[in-house]
Amino acid sequence: MFLASADDGLTAVPFTDAAFQAAPARLPAGRAVVADASVCAPIVLRDERAADVPAREALLDAALGPARTLKPSERLRSGRLPAEGLALIAEDGEGRLVGTVRLWNVSAGGRPALLLGPLAVDETCRGAGVGAALVRLALARAEAAGHAAVILVGDPEYYARFGFSTDATAGLVMPGPTERRRFLARAFVAGALDGAAGRVTATGRRVALPARVEAVAQAA
Ligand SMILES: CC(C)(COP(=O)(O)OP(=O)(O)OC[C@H]1O[C@@H](n2cnc3c(N)ncnc32)[C@H](O)[C@@H]1OP(=O)(O)O)[C@@H](O)C(=O)NCCC(=O)NCCS
Repeated sequence: MFLASADDGLTAVPFTDAAFQAAPARLPAGRAVVADASVCAPIVLRDERAADVPAREALLDAALGPARTLKPSERLRSGRLPAEGLALIAEDGEGRLVGTVRLWNVSAGGRPALLLGPLAVDETCRGAGVGAALVRLALARAEAAGHAAVILVGDPEYYARFGFSTDATAGLVMPGPTERRRFLARAFVAGALDGAAGRVTATGRRVALPARVEAVAQAA
């Protein structure tokens, strides 16, 4: 079971899949606690902070390997900031960062959209619903913020449960080789991506120069 509690001290409420769908407007301000039998419980979902970056990068390296930076999606993220309010992390009961998801502003053949990813959960906490909670909270926030659609490159066997399919991506082109069956989209607004065709390009806010220099220095 999922429980949602807001930073402002709201009483925790049942946080089922239905509640994610039914009350997206309430969730953006809050945090989510995943109450589960997992060794990682309780899990708190919250906004990412600057201090999370080293742990987030270590988690992504462990989960996706060094080749993660070579993915076409990375070309849409490099040098950009995530979409406002759409960088989330999961923390275990000891304050350890055990999950991350970020969404990015893109143009999908001229239509404003978000790119989801990377999504990763620490190996020790997988299978407990943390990944699903991160995705659902991020989608709920994105919809509540007025975004029309989300695209991603990922396994359809995982993302179909969140409403993603290849239905609207046939005419879109990622900036690099992409398996068609893994190029997925979900529209919040019916028809938001109908007939969308052309390149997917980055439209997010650019990282300020000092932070870029620091990022390069860290990567070296
Ligand atoms: C994918 C990932 C984020 C899922 O995190 P999680 O917290 O374990 O996910 P959940 O608990 O919400 O869901 C687990 C379920 O999804 C399934 N699942 C996980 N990854 C899957 C995949 N790639 N394809 C199909 N099913 C998958 C699990 O088998 C499990 O199924 P079950 O509920 O029937 O037991 C995690 O496995 C991970 O970090 N993997 C490495 C990085 C990665 O592949 N990221 C996604 C890029 S596409």
